[in-house]
Amino acid sequence: MDEQMIEVKNDTDIIRVRRIVREMAVEIGFGELDQTRIITAISELTRNIIVHASSGKVLIKEVQKTGKRGIEITCADEGPGIVDIELALKDGYTTSGGLGIGMTGARRLMDEFKVESVVGSGTTVIVKKWMK
Ligand SMILES: Nc1ncnc2c1ncn2[C@@H]1O[C@H](COP(=O)(O)OP(=O)(O)OP(=O)(O)O)[C@@H](O)[C@H]1O
Ligand SMILES: [Mg+2]
Repeated sequence: MDEQMIEVKNDTDIIRVRRIVREMAVEIGFGELDQTRIITAISELTRNIIVHASSGKVLIKEVQKTGKRGIEITCADEGPGIVDIELALKDGYTTSGGLGIGMTGARRLMDEFKVESVVGSGTTVIVKKWMK
């Protein structure tokens, strides 16, 4: 099964992540609308790594569940972590003067969304989308 890991630290890396996610989404069989949803979500989560943690890694892989194909993307960093995850997942909450809609948007666009974060050691966001 396909799997790719990309180190991210700048905007060029976001473009690389977008391209690889698109390639894998196409290979799995996602239609254009879902491809766009997945790419939009992953762009925001990758941008969060760069903005809030400076650098990190994005792992993209194909997954399966009871015969269904899907994509799983893990965005991990060793940045400052998130003090209050529930608060950070509210629309409009931002600590960086952003719009505070990146993570909530990503959550809505994907089928599964999980955040693990430890203050002082980093954040991992795992998202999945399944073929209908
Ligand atoms: N990887 C991360 N490391 C540390 N804090 C994070 C991380 N990702 C998100 N956060 C926290 O969660 C908040 C909300 O994230 P969200 O992406 O929704 O908004 P934003 O990045 O501030 O603005 P934007 O709307 O431009 O994305 C951030 O302001 C930040 O405090
Ligand atoms: Mg953001």
